[in-house]
Amino acid sequence: MSSMNGPSPVDGKIVLITGASSGIGEATARRLAADGHHVVLGARRVDRLAVLAEELRAAGGRADHGHLDVTSLDSVRAFAGRAHDRHGRVDVLVNNAGVMPLSTVDALRVDDWNQMIDVNLRGTLHGIAAVLPLMRARGAGHIVNVASTSAHRVDPTAAVYCATKYAVRALSEGLRQESRDIRVTLVSPGYTRTELTDHGGDPEVRAAVHEMSERLGIPAAAVADAIAYAIAQPDGIDVNDLIIRPTGQG
Ligand SMILES: NC(=O)c1ccc[n+]([C@@H]2O[C@H](COP(=O)([O-])OP(=O)(O)OC[C@H]3O[C@@H](n4cnc5c(N)ncnc54)[C@H](OP(=O)(O)O)[C@@H]3O)[C@@H](O)[C@H]2O)c1
Repeated sequence: MSSMNGPSPVDGKIVLITGASSGIGEATARRLAADGHHVVLGARRVDRLAVLAEELRAAGGRADHGHLDVTSLDSVRAFAGRAHDRHGRVDVLVNNAGVMPLSTVDALRVDDWNQMIDVNLRGTLHGIAAVLPLMRARGAGHIVNVASTSAHRVDPTAAVYCATKYAVRALSEGLRQESRDIRVTLVSPGYTRTELTDHGGDPEVRAAVHEMSERLGIPAAAVADAIAYAIAQPDGIDVNDLIIRPTGQG
C-alpha cells in the first residue's frame, strides 16, 4: 500500500489516535498523516506528541495534539470534544493506548491487573463513549480497536493482559453487530518492536518478552499499514478483523 492510494488532503479524515506518543500509535500517526488525513494525537507525554505533531506539519501533514489519560472518562471526552469543536466532526477513533505489565497470576500483582483493566479495557470503552454519540448523530464513523494476538490465544504470565484483550475483541464484535452506520475494526498485532515491554510487571518476565520482541518483532509501521488499509476502504466496506504477526511467531 502506498500513500498514493490514500485520500487526497481535501477528502482526508479526522482521525483521533490514543497512545500516539510511541510505538504503534506514533507509526499510525505518521502513516495516516502521509495519506492525507488530519491526525489528532493523544497521550500523557504531551512533550513527545508536540514534537511529533510539529514534525508531521513540517512534512506537509495535518496534525494537532492534546493531553489524554484514557483511564479518565472526563479526559477522553474533553479530548474528543475539542477535536469535534475544532473540526466539526470525528471520522475515526483509533483506540490504541495500552499497557502490558506481565506476571503469573500467583504473583498477585493486583495494581498491575487494575492498570491493564483501566487502560486496555476501560480506556477503550471510554473512547467509544466519547465518540459514539457524535458518530451516531452523523450516521457515519469508524472505530478501530487495537487488541493483540493475545485476544486470540492465552499464554502463561499474560492471563490478565489476555483477559483485557479478549474483552476488547468481544466488545468490538458486539459493537459491530449493533451498528449499521459505523464501521468497527479489530486490529490484532503479534510481537511488534515498541516500548510496550519497557515498563512494569515481573522484571524476569519483562526481560524475556523484551528479548523475544527484539528478536522476532515486526516494525510498528506494519501494524500502521493495516490500520490505514481498513480506514481507506469505502464507507460501505467494513474490515472487521486483522491479525498481523511475525512469520516466526508461531
Ligand atoms: N508491541 C507489541 O508487541 C504489541 C502486540 C500486540 C498488541 N499491542 C498493543 O498495541 C497498542 C500500542 O502499544 P505499543 O506496542 O505501541 O506500546 P508503546 O510504545 O508502549 O505505546 C503505548 C502507548 O499507550 C499510551 N498510554 C499508556 N497508558 C495511557 C493512558 N493512561 N492514557 C493515554 N495513553 C496511554 C502511551 O503513551 P503515554 O505513556 O505517553 O501516555 C503510549 O503512547 C497497545 O494496546 C498494545 O497492547 C502491542
